[in-house]
Amino acid sequence: MIQKWRSQCSGVLAEAIEPISTTIAVGMAATLTAFIASYPNIFYYFHECCRPEWISFNYTGLKADLDSKLFGQHIATRIILKAVNGFMTNNNPKKPLVLSLHGWTGTGKNYITKLIAENIYAEGMKSNFVHVFTATLHFPHQSHYIQYKSQLQQWVKGNVTNCERSMFIFDEMDKMHPGLIDGIKPFLDYYEKLDGVSYRKAIFIFLSNAGGDSIAQTALDFWKAGQQREDIELKDLETLLSLSVFNNNKSGFYRTSLIDKNLVDFFVPLLPLEYKHVVQCIIAEMKAREMKVDEKVADQVAKDLIYFPKSERIFSIKGCKTIESKLDYYV
Ligand SMILES: Nc1ncnc2c1ncn2[C@@H]1O[C@H](COP(=O)(O)OP(=O)(O)OP(=O)(O)O)[C@@H](O)[C@H]1O
Ligand SMILES: [Mg+2]
Repeated sequence: MIQKWRSQCSGVLAEAIEPISTTIAVGMAATLTAFIASYPNIFYYFHECCRPEWISFNYTGLKADLDSKLFGQHIATRIILKAVNGFMTNNNPKKPLVLSLHGWTGTGKNYITKLIAENIYAEGMKSNFVHVFTATLHFPHQSHYIQYKSQLQQWVKGNVTNCERSMFIFDEMDKMHPGLIDGIKPFLDYYEKLDGVSYRKAIFIFLSNAGGDSIAQTALDFWKAGQQREDIELKDLETLLSLSVFNNNKSGFYRTSLIDKNLVDFFVPLLPLEYKHVVQCIIAEMKAREMKVDEKVADQVAKDLIYFPKSERIFSIKGCKTIESKLDYYV
């Protein structure tokens, strides 16, 4: 799982000329060296560095993206914007930003991390400073967790040493061994420095389905009571969410002190998506593919998905997840 982390901006020249034959390279290197001497910042523009040219928060961009691209998630939109803005505009945060996103499959958890990354890092998810860990992919054998734990700690440390504004996304957090979660706990705390490294400017985002059922139940209760989805507030879900995450023995948070030590700054609930949101996702996908928007096709694709409860068909069981392949089938 673990590759070597990249140096901040050093070694750029060597990397740039490596594939070229030595004779040409020597000549080029001399020219380049003279050029760089005259314009010392020039490489910052060509090679991603841990610098404001490549890492700077775009509040307006994130707000516009959340408002126009993320459907049906008014609570998540509000929390994410507030949390990321507060953190990124603070030059002296006391701890890293730790967000925990919860919800059914296909409700937009990974999608939100992409929108955040795109509005902080010029390279978005492709940035060398954005790291995604997936429990079942990177840590497949529960019994190897001690080895994984030390690799993971080294990796996080190496990357934050390289760039303090690093972002770590832990996917399938509910399938992660609690011992492994315990391993990252020190990084999330209020330490000035750990082993000479400060983690205070890093962002950690945990994604999981844990708590998804209680969120869906609350959304259903609101619907049954004839209340608007937009009237659901964070306080209607917060306690329920942390209880169901904490008490679920399948959840990776279980028995780790992430929750009782208050290391998670924000629990972000993702609501289950309704028919109309699925239609919005399909139309967005049509636009992304530069197809002619056909509402009839969108309706057909949306109707073919499975909804819960069976009789009322309110919430899409897989959110917007399978629509891409379904759309291929209909067009
Ligand atoms: N709320 C949403 N608004 C707009 N698009 C969405 C939303 N939810 C999902 N999508 C679309 O569906 C795709 C799949 O969603 P995503 O990968 O974010 O799901 P997830 O919540 O991470 O699910 P899982 O729990 O299965 O990992 C996204 O790439 C996006 O195109
Ligand atoms: Mg996901």
